[in-house]
Amino acid sequence: EKAGYPHFMLKEIFEQPKALADCLRGRINPKKGTVQLGGVADVMDQIVKANRIVIAACGTSWHSALVGEYLFEYLAKAPVEVEYASEFRYRDPLIGEGDVLLVISQSGETADTLAALREARERGALVLGICNVVGSTISRETDAGVFTHAGPEIGVASTKAFTAQVVVLTMMALELAMRKGTITKEKAKKYIKELDQIPGKVEQILKECDETTREMARLFTYAPNFLYLGRSYNFPVALEGALKLKEISYIHAEGYPAAEMKHGPIALIDEMMPVVVIAATDHTNDKMISNIEEVKARKGRIISIMNKENSDVEELSEFSISIPSTYDCFSPLLTVIPLQLLSYYIAVNRGCNVDQPRNLAKSVTVE
Ligand code: M6R
Repeated sequence: EKAGYPHFMLKEIFEQPKALADCLRGRINPKKGTVQLGGVADVMDQIVKANRIVIAACGTSWHSALVGEYLFEYLAKAPVEVEYASEFRYRDPLIGEGDVLLVISQSGETADTLAALREARERGALVLGICNVVGSTISRETDAGVFTHAGPEIGVASTKAFTAQVVVLTMMALELAMRKGTITKEKAKKYIKELDQIPGKVEQILKECDETTREMARLFTYAPNFLYLGRSYNFPVALEGALKLKEISYIHAEGYPAAEMKHGPIALIDEMMPVVVIAATDHTNDKMISNIEEVKARKGRIISIMNKENSDVEELSEFSISIPSTYDCFSPLLTVIPLQLLSYYIAVNRGCNVDQPRNLAKSVTVE
């Protein structure tokens, strides 16, 4: 059932073009420039009128929620807060009628996420879900929701579920934006056309960066620490890259918004420290270049994920992986792919049990 791949994780990474195409199928119409999410159609008016949207999740799903926050705010001008489900539920949360709680969960069984949902529902909020597993507890208990349709995810490290969640959030943000009139029809059509191209671009990245990520993995297999830096839409990707590495290779890694580096983590940088810079968000590019220079001045080793056109970043990097160009707000769907592969190859080199890392379970049903 691994379809010839040595691990489920690798299979699932390579399945992403199909998973994302399945997720988009029947929901976007690039010719007409429309988005239709059947699962939330009945409550769309309530979402449009919501006082605010709170997104709650755990782990990787929490990272996709953070990407969602940027998307909802940028495209639909909707106020969004992102919460760790575990913190939200125990805080006597300020949520009630007129608010929306959106929970995100691959498995649909995560105990804290389920408890957050129940808490918000009791307080009168509209409760929505983005789940991968059809028939899961969370998907049954929400008022409405959207399935990611990424197919079964077996590897403990979430890969295709993450990108599919981000695709769903993108579609939601676009539909909301169109309903609210925060983007023009023409602009929406351009975004939808581009979204339709994303599975193909993911496929291209998988082809182009497999060898480079292996080479990088060989060099950095025994690095004791890693730092991941990103800005804007790619800040959550920095967190996700670090989590992937931690959970399957047992290397300590931290993700940071790049500008926060000088508020502490810069003290860690020396010639032993690989720094993965996700420099593919155009509007913050100059700032990222200064961050790269700051790292280099301290002999840190730069691995960059960058836009094809960006020779400045490439010149400053020991390794760089370029991704096809896209709208900044879609770039997490592309930049995360090489990071998944990098952590996979490092874990394999270290002889780790990639699909079932120590101390972890696929779904965390205890609190
Ligand atoms: O099934 P869920 O999406 O609710 O799971 C949430 C986290 O437990 C999960 O994303 C976890 O962080 C993964 N192992 C990350 O790869």
